[in-house]
Amino acid sequence: KTLRPLIAGNWKMNGLRKDLDEIAAIRDGGVKVGGAVEIVVCPPFTLLAAAASLCEGSGIGIGGQDCHPEKKGAFTGDIAPPMLKDCGATYVILGHSERRLIHGESDALIRDKIKGVQAAGLAAILCVGETAEQRSTGQALAVVGEQLAGSIPRDVSIEGLVIAYEPVWAIGTGLTPTAEDIAEMHGFIRAKLEESWPGKAATVRLLYGGSVKPSNAAKLLAIANVDGALIGGASLIAADFLAIAAAC
Ligand code: G3H
Repeated sequence: KTLRPLIAGNWKMNGLRKDLDEIAAIRDGGVKVGGAVEIVVCPPFTLLAAAASLCEGSGIGIGGQDCHPEKKGAFTGDIAPPMLKDCGATYVILGHSERRLIHGESDALIRDKIKGVQAAGLAAILCVGETAEQRSTGQALAVVGEQLAGSIPRDVSIEGLVIAYEPVWAIGTGLTPTAEDIAEMHGFIRAKLEESWPGKAATVRLLYGGSVKPSNAAKLLAIANVDGALIGGASLIAADFLAIAAAC
């Protein structure tokens, strides 16, 4: 594999200020894992600035979990991409299935968010993935193909974009697809990107997400076209998250 692997932790709606200790532990351990692996932590908005200042100069990156497409304005409760950047974030997770399903986010909205994020100089981690029903009815590739076509703006550079394949049924369940299914999906995503951005797809990191643990990380990360992982639950515990990073 030629791309530098990316291990990103999505804390979701977890973490109080006392949990910054865990981020400091990730920083200290991450520095030891070294530059071979890029490590990014995405805490809730309330901890972003503090986490970024803890990790400053360490090489550990900080990301947001969502944002509004616009730079600023009358959008009560929303957070704009330049605000994330101002807090020290360099990445933003977009289109997570919890945003798509719980908040009804459409591909069109996610596309606008990617544009806003890129305009602010941040890198998007775009999540895609099928539900259990879509997989069992043989629609997984078609669903992910549609999400890619609908949510990646045509007029932006895909260099710097990260895509996370997260089957909805694998998130927080302890279930993971077979290695063959992950390889098929990641190969499919790479091929779809190549169709629209010839010559560029090989530079895009494709992460797998969904029940990645220290015990299965090495196997999952060894699969063809898997360039890293997006970790939920296991990213809340520094030792587990670092063990996954070390498995790259
Ligand atoms: O963004 C992360 C994913 O939703 C995976 O969550 O590792 O808890 O299954 P999980």
